Amino acid sequence: MAGNCIQKDDGNALLDRLLRSDAVIFVTPVYYFGMSAQLKTVIDRFYARNGAITAKCMKAALIATAWNDDDTVMKGIEVTFGIIFDYLDFVNVGSVLAKGSGTVGMMPLKYRRQAYEPGRAI
Ligand SMILES: Cc1cc2nc3c(=O)[nH]c(=O)nc-3n(C[C@H](O)[C@H](O)[C@H](O)COP(=O)(O)O)c2cc1C
Repeated sequence: MAGNCIQKDDGNALLDRLLRSDAVIFVTPVYYFGMSAQLKTVIDRFYARNGAITAKCMKAALIATAWNDDDTVMKGIEVTFGIIFDYLDFVNVGSVLAKGSGTVGMMPLKYRRQAYEPGRAI
């Protein structure tokens, strides 16, 4: 798809800004094993400019936090963003899947260190 979204709101300006950027970092809490509805709403707006976004081969990263610290909690979000990154030809510069990080105080130090890496890679 190539063009403006039919929704007349800030979405088109956001897409213009995305297309002027070299990189995009998606940040979300895990809500019922997926991304937040707010972030999904933003990504849905990409559809109007899929072609232009894909052509840029943008650098991208995902930072997700979850309360639980088990083997399943990040599976859904990992698969979903893996497919989205492939579909939009994003180059993953280092995602952080922070389990056991329901509050800032809970977050293990290793994830804070990991979050530094995508910044350096951009
Ligand atoms: C609606 C809702 C759904 C959530 N679902 C999950 C979940 O499936 N797994 C999990 O570990 N934490 C879950 N959490 C906890 C959040 O992922 C965790 O607190 C988060 O990383 C920080 O989000 P917050 O800023 O909304 O508190 C959920 C929280 C909310 C409010």
